[in-house]
Amino acid sequence: MIHKEDIDKIFEAARVEDVVADYVTLKKRGVNLIGLCPFHDEKTPSFYVSPAKGIYKCFGCGKGGNPVSFLMDKEQMSYPEALRHLAKKYNIEITEEEETPEQVQTNNDRESLFIVSAYAQKHFSENLYNTDEGKSIGLGYFKERGFREDIVQKFQLGYSVNKRTAFTDSALASGYKFEYLVKSGLTIDFNKDGEKTIEGSEPILHSSEKKFVDRFAGRVMFPVHNISGRVIAFGGRTLRTDKKVAKYINSPEMEIYHKSDVLYGIYFAKKEIIHQDNCFLVEGYTDVISMHQAGIENVVASSGTSLTIGQIKLIRRFSNNITILYDGDNAGIKASFRGIDLILEEGMNVKVLLFPDGEDPDSYSKRVSSDELKSFIKENSKDFISFKTSLLMGEVQNDPIKKAQLIKEIVDSIALIPEAIYRSVYIKECSRIMDVQEEVLLSELNKIRRKKFNEKGIAPATTNSEFTPPVEDIIEANLEKTNADSEHQERDIIRLLINYGNNIMQVDSEELDEENKPIPIDISLAGLIIHELQHDNIVLENVLYRTVFDEFVVQLEQGMVPDYNYFTNHPNTEICSLTVDLVSSPYFLSNWEQHSIYITKEEDILRNSLNSAIFSLKSRRIEMMILDIQKQLKENPGEEETMTLQQTHLNLLEAKKEFNKLLGRIIVK
Ligand code: CTP
Ligand code: MN
Repeated sequence: MIHKEDIDKIFEAARVEDVVADYVTLKKRGVNLIGLCPFHDEKTPSFYVSPAKGIYKCFGCGKGGNPVSFLMDKEQMSYPEALRHLAKKYNIEITEEEETPEQVQTNNDRESLFIVSAYAQKHFSENLYNTDEGKSIGLGYFKERGFREDIVQKFQLGYSVNKRTAFTDSALASGYKFEYLVKSGLTIDFNKDGEKTIEGSEPILHSSEKKFVDRFAGRVMFPVHNISGRVIAFGGRTLRTDKKVAKYINSPEMEIYHKSDVLYGIYFAKKEIIHQDNCFLVEGYTDVISMHQAGIENVVASSGTSLTIGQIKLIRRFSNNITILYDGDNAGIKASFRGIDLILEEGMNVKVLLFPDGEDPDSYSKRVSSDELKSFIKENSKDFISFKTSLLMGEVQNDPIKKAQLIKEIVDSIALIPEAIYRSVYIKECSRIMDVQEEVLLSELNKIRRKKFNEKGIAPATTNSEFTPPVEDIIEANLEKTNADSEHQERDIIRLLINYGNNIMQVDSEELDEENKPIPIDISLAGLIIHELQHDNIVLENVLYRTVFDEFVVQLEQGMVPDYNYFTNHPNTEICSLTVDLVSSPYFLSNWEQHSIYITKEEDILRNSLNSAIFSLKSRRIEMMILDIQKQLKENPGEEETMTLQQTHLNLLEAKKEFNKLLGRIIVK
């Protein structure tokens, strides 16, 4: 752990323009510097660096941050790696906090596993190139599959000779500890695992003198790399056609290999995923490798299991877009739908591509040219929701019950999408495909979102209505109502906090002087906002915004108001990039001021901005509650319930008026 004071020193010393200049040619433009964005392809520069604010921001692709986040993004460094890099660059000596014996032990364990895995990878490559068995069987197999030599090398493929203890013997002879060979799963220890057989392999004979055996003997080896390129696990494919032997055996879970957080190929794909702003998801090792060979490098595999949240989040570090490549097997596709719902829920855009019957990315890419493959993918990628709808509609035919179930299922998926605007587009599209009125879909959607809202506190998307307005109206109303979460309002509050939290405002207190006039007091804008929200028990719904807000609360309690530097240099990269977005507007980058063109600065009209932000959030919240009550009333609750609801409804309307007045008294001067 790097000491907090050292981190502060590093942030103080690091000049964003220096760090960026190692990668980008920058030209002066007013108070800023400008250049071609290193994160996406562009011909005209839209990448700005603001030395004054210590941040960079690309108005083309949206990337932005501080010197540390730049290195993390550009070089895929971890946070401590980026800090160390900068410390070196600026000659800052850092003392890393001493670790507890447990931490030391864990780090040693992890490191040892990395080292053993790296050794194994080299060993299996040597087996492949330098043994007769490796050359004839292993290399022979890769050749037969059409893998080019450079590709075999790039993916560090290997071969494990078909002798029961060859690998372990050689590792022990080279001084690797038995303990770590076993922990890494490369060696199976009979003493520990008893007479256990390796899954899918022949039973292990316990007459053997040795008390251990190699897990992967007699298989071609696919090393699995983590995001920074270190080998963390292996998949081994048997070359036997014997059905009793498992085709693939994989390393077991261990400290450095948590299957659910790993994607095969991510290390080789990450750059291109960023570049293409899309990630192809395929089934297995060979699909990834064949696609690379065909010149498509933004591709990863979930390795036979269904996609996990951890894997989705890994992809989302590089792009918001996923295209899933299916081989043409309906059962398999349907089985994957659940996993895709997880992707939708993460707010990512999902496309799917179906290969012709009997083909997978591996086989197809071998049959056609690289260009043909690329254009096939381009022309046949379909939006997921429409794809799912069409596929399932094909099975429904004229069965009304099945169709009703289908509607529910599709709307279930749509309801997961966080952005209202996308939901409404999908409702329209699916209404067309299924030949069902949008109104019907909307009402189903509302039911689901409402239920979720009650369960998880997610804002409702739309409200129900009993009449059927024209389609255009539904969409428009839907769009309008779907804004009925308070994301915009919350964002504006956070924007003001970060940009102007320190500004001192004068407000009237509730106390009166001798002349019965309210006594004015000074309060920071941050203090005022916090007071205002807490007073009405308003909790921000958006997790990120809430985190920022809570930091203000904590800091304020200690008598400090953090400014944007605090947040642009925040270790949480999401907070950092949010902040950069909030402090950079195209205006901030303009040099109009230099040309004496006067633009109204928000600081001059801060009182107004603050007023309207708080007003909007509160009034939105009350509207949401009012809508909620109205909807409950429409569902014909019992008589007593109706009365209570109506009373609450009145109270809310009253409250809306009241708080408007109150707000005026506290803030407007
Ligand atoms: N897989 C696995 N264990 C198995 C079968 C499959 O872990 N017993 C995983 C592997 O990651 C494999 C992926 O699921 O790459 C896809 O399986 P499959 O299509 O059967 O394998 P391919 O990679 O296509 O291998 P091949 O083309 O050699 O059959
Ligand atoms: Mn396959």
